Amino acid sequence: MLVIIAAPTLLIVLEGKNVRVAHPAGIYFYNSNERLRYPLVGYTSFYSGWTCRLMGIAILTLRMSMEQRDRKEMIKETFNTVAPAYDHAALRFFPESARHLAACLALQGDEQVLDVACGTGNAALALSAHLPRGQVTAIDFSAGMLARAHEKTEAQGLRNIRFVEMDMQSLTFAPGQFDAAVSAFGIFFVEDMTAQLRHIAGKVRPGGRIAVSGFYEDAFMPLVELFLRRMEAYGIERPPLSWKRISSDEKISALLASAGLENIEVRCLDHGYYLRDAGDWWQVVWNAGFRGLLNLLTPIDRARFQEEHLAEIQPLCGSEGLWLDVKVLYAVGVKPAA
Ligand SMILES: C[S@@+](CC[C@H](N)C(=O)[O-])C[C@H]1O[C@@H](n2cnc3c(N)ncnc32)[C@H](O)[C@@H]1O
Repeated sequence: MLVIIAAPTLLIVLEGKNVRVAHPAGIYFYNSNERLRYPLVGYTSFYSGWTCRLMGIAILTLRMSMEQRDRKEMIKETFNTVAPAYDHAALRFFPESARHLAACLALQGDEQVLDVACGTGNAALALSAHLPRGQVTAIDFSAGMLARAHEKTEAQGLRNIRFVEMDMQSLTFAPGQFDAAVSAFGIFFVEDMTAQLRHIAGKVRPGGRIAVSGFYEDAFMPLVELFLRRMEAYGIERPPLSWKRISSDEKISALLASAGLENIEVRCLDHGYYLRDAGDWWQVVWNAGFRGLLNLLTPIDRARFQEEHLAEIQPLCGSEGLWLDVKVLYAVGVKPAA
């Protein structure tokens, strides 16, 4: 066996036909004989066969759950930050679309409805109008978004909505407690959307409806493409846009089917409108999910980015303003009878 220290943190072992590489930062283990590539922590990778596989899987699982936890914290932080201006008029597609989502449930008026990832309460408020004898229970993990939701319901004097701070991946309600559920632009924030939708369906009675909304494939184009391209020029890697995972009729319908829902119906509606100018587009990216990306820039770079980005957006404005393409997909399914 020959051991080579190729870098302060990299250890390479030659053993017969095997080459083993361990990285203490916990990145990869490579065994040329078995063609394995597992993340490992420390020099513990000098094991072979099943020991190595099991350790690799355990550490991979640990790393994935740590990454997911970090990602979740970042999402929560982003929404806490944007909450005060999330209801800016430039983002009015959220309340407009919420009204359609609420109508998708075809409520009778006395139901108990769950709103998952409710944000500042757009869907909850829309549902409230359909429930003169019922109630909406709306959950979100961002205290900032919930504070805004409270303000809005208080201002409108609504008494049939209760907001609860809760992680949608750990809903603490009783099985079958709700007659129906919605999630507006929320489900794609989790990695395993099927498990999430099953989890929500678990809280709905058999025969109850579940409706989710998401953005259509080309929503926000071409503005968002210009935004992401310029971010790349600033060294910010283009993130996978999580909403693209359910951005077509087929994809969103397959999601509901994978969660065991039946009688699935999908519709796409155009909620697009004219923004006044490029400055309004900045309100869209600054006051919603894209803030997380913008926060990766230093304040100086961000100011320069804003100036350059808006300079390339402004020429797209016509006499009526700047078109914001917001096509929204609505998918409704029914929880099968037990
Ligand atoms: C794009 S906003 C949509 C808000 C609202 N449904 C609407 O249509 O305006 C997404 C929301 O999902 C929430 N969210 C993301 N991941 C969550 C999680 N794991 N548990 C609870 N809420 C979550 C965020 O805090 C944010 O309020």
